[in-house]
Amino acid sequence: MKRTSRAIVILLAAMLFVSVLAGCKTAAPVAVEKKLKIGLSLATLQEERWVRDKDRITKDCADQGIELLTQIANMDAAAQESQCENLFTQGINVLIIAAQDASAAATIVDKAHAAGVKVICYDRLVMDTVNDDVYISFDNVQVGVLQGTWLTKAVPKGNYAILSGAPTDNNAKLFKQGAMSIIQPLVDKGDIKIVADQAVVEWKPENALKIMENALTANKNNIQGILAPNDGTAGGCIQALAAQGLAGKVPITGQDAELAAAQRIVKGTQGMTVFKDTRILADAAVEAAKSMFGGYTLANATQTVNNNKVDVPSILLTPIAVTKDNIDVALIDSGYLKKADVYK
Ligand code: BGC
Repeated sequence: MKRTSRAIVILLAAMLFVSVLAGCKTAAPVAVEKKLKIGLSLATLQEERWVRDKDRITKDCADQGIELLTQIANMDAAAQESQCENLFTQGINVLIIAAQDASAAATIVDKAHAAGVKVICYDRLVMDTVNDDVYISFDNVQVGVLQGTWLTKAVPKGNYAILSGAPTDNNAKLFKQGAMSIIQPLVDKGDIKIVADQAVVEWKPENALKIMENALTANKNNIQGILAPNDGTAGGCIQALAAQGLAGKVPITGQDAELAAAQRIVKGTQGMTVFKDTRILADAAVEAAKSMFGGYTLANATQTVNNNKVDVPSILLTPIAVTKDNIDVALIDSGYLKKADVYK
């Protein structure tokens, strides 16, 4: 609702309230302005970052008196749909969704639209729908570029194992696209040979562990570099390396700035991670929800990302590569992690 029309509604409601009071001495005060109610639907809490996202959104809403209803789908796309339907019937105005399945979630977004609920695609873009209202994430292609850049500097020549994230997650494609934009030219030159290339179903560390065990066996441990798409999968790979006495000897990437990854970076078993400050992401999503509810356009959604159907107005934050060299500044000084925990 525009400011002026909202003012008129408030004025009319106030006049009505006064006339009701005049005719009936015992009338209770009537709440005239509708309050924002946000639904938060997260695909998973498997990675530490999602717990941080949830906690920050919860705090932001509590601080500002916004009602928040949260649902976690535990990586079940069908459950996510029914949980969201339930949120619609509870009268949410805005849905903040991190989709389990990028395409399947189009149905959720379409149902939200039909119910008059605005949709914020949170971190993960919902594909194949004309109804995404806004996408708020990091520049996910750049995440991959940071990983690929670090890895090719650490290992300019040799055998690579390439792992990618869950095939149901659109981000996984973007991370890989970014990383391969750096790695592929070196493959074409003949400097790098890709000896394993596999997606990690559901981003599970145990699936990454198996992939890496098999890759090491198949290549008689002759692997010099590993592209791991996030810290969880890096953890699985490093476990496989450790079993062969190779932890710390094969450069490996990550993403998310998880505490365990930060500890591995200072110990030297993981080379890098990519820091995506979930505090900024969460704050941006709650701000966007408030604007949308107020009927304002999102002036800061200056970019667009195509979801196979339309260009979705987007806010893409900047990811930061973190190694031993800048871990204190990037993760500790920023208050994301505690020094005592990282250097435990
Ligand atoms: C997120 C990553 C996360 C992964 C697994 C991706 O969509 O962007 O931060 O590690 O999902 O949950």
